[in-house]
Amino acid sequence: MKVLILEDAAAAVARAAGLVSATVISRPEIVLGLATGGTMLPLYADLRRRHAEGSLSFAGVTTFNLDEYVGLAPAHPGSYHTYMREALFDHVDIDPARTHLPRGDAADPRAEAQRYEQAITDRGGIDLQLLGIGRNGHIGFNEPTSSLGSRTRIKTLTIETREANRRYFTEGEEVPRYALSMGIGTIMEARACLLLATGSTKAEACARMIEGAIGAACPATALQMHPRVTAVLDREAAAALELKDYYDHVHPEGGDTVFD
Ligand code: GLP
Repeated sequence: MKVLILEDAAAAVARAAGLVSATVISRPEIVLGLATGGTMLPLYADLRRRHAEGSLSFAGVTTFNLDEYVGLAPAHPGSYHTYMREALFDHVDIDPARTHLPRGDAADPRAEAQRYEQAITDRGGIDLQLLGIGRNGHIGFNEPTSSLGSRTRIKTLTIETREANRRYFTEGEEVPRYALSMGIGTIMEARACLLLATGSTKAEACARMIEGAIGAACPATALQMHPRVTAVLDREAAAALELKDYYDHVHPEGGDTVFD
C-alpha cells in the first residue's frame, strides 16, 4: 500500500483530487468507482472546480457508486443518489446514463444486488475505485465481520454507522437499517484503489487498515492484499501509524518517488 501523508485535510484532498484528475485526463473513458460520506465532499468540490476551469471533462467517464440505503428512492434527500447529484453529477459534463448506483427502492433488493454486480462486470470492471473509511474500519458499507470475499449484497448497518450518518436525515426520521453495498471481493477486483481519510476520528481505523493484521473485524485490512492501493491521509488520520517516519521518508510531503 502506498501511504501518502499530507500536512492537513485541505492538502490531502488536493492531492487525492489531483490523482483522480490526472487519471481521468489520461484515460477519458475510465470506469470510476465512487464513494460518499463527508470526507469525499471537498474532493468532489475540487473536481467540480477543475471542470469549471476547463481542465477536466467527465464526458467519457462511467461511474459505479459503492452503495445505497435500502428503502430510499433516488429522489430521497438522504439517498446517495441525491448526494452524488448534488456533489458532482449535476455540475459536470457526465452523461447521467453512465452513472450507476444500486437502487435502494428496488422491489427485490437481493436481485438488485446481483444486477448491480453484473452491470459492473458487463462494463469491464472498475479502473479506479475511490474509498473513504468508517471509524470501525468499514469500506463501502462492509461492516466488521463482512466476508472478505463478499459481493454486492444487503448489509445491516451498525448502530455506530447509523449514528455517524444521522446528520444526513431530518430530525425524527429513522436512519435506514440496511444498505446495498459492493462487497469486499467486488472492491478488490477494481484495478486500483484510492482511499482518502482525514481527521483524528479516522486515526485508529487507518492504523488498523495499514498496519494491523488482516481480518474481517476490520474490513479495510483486505486492501493490504490489493496490489495497487494509494491511501492519502492528513496528519491527524495518520497519527496512530507506527511507521509514520518511514512513509514520510518514502513519500516526502505525500509526493511520489522516482519509481512511480
Ligand atoms: C459511509 C459510507 C462510506 C464512507 C463512510 C465514512 O458509511 N458508506 O463509503 O467511507 O461513511 O464517511 P465520512 O467520510 O462521512 O466519515
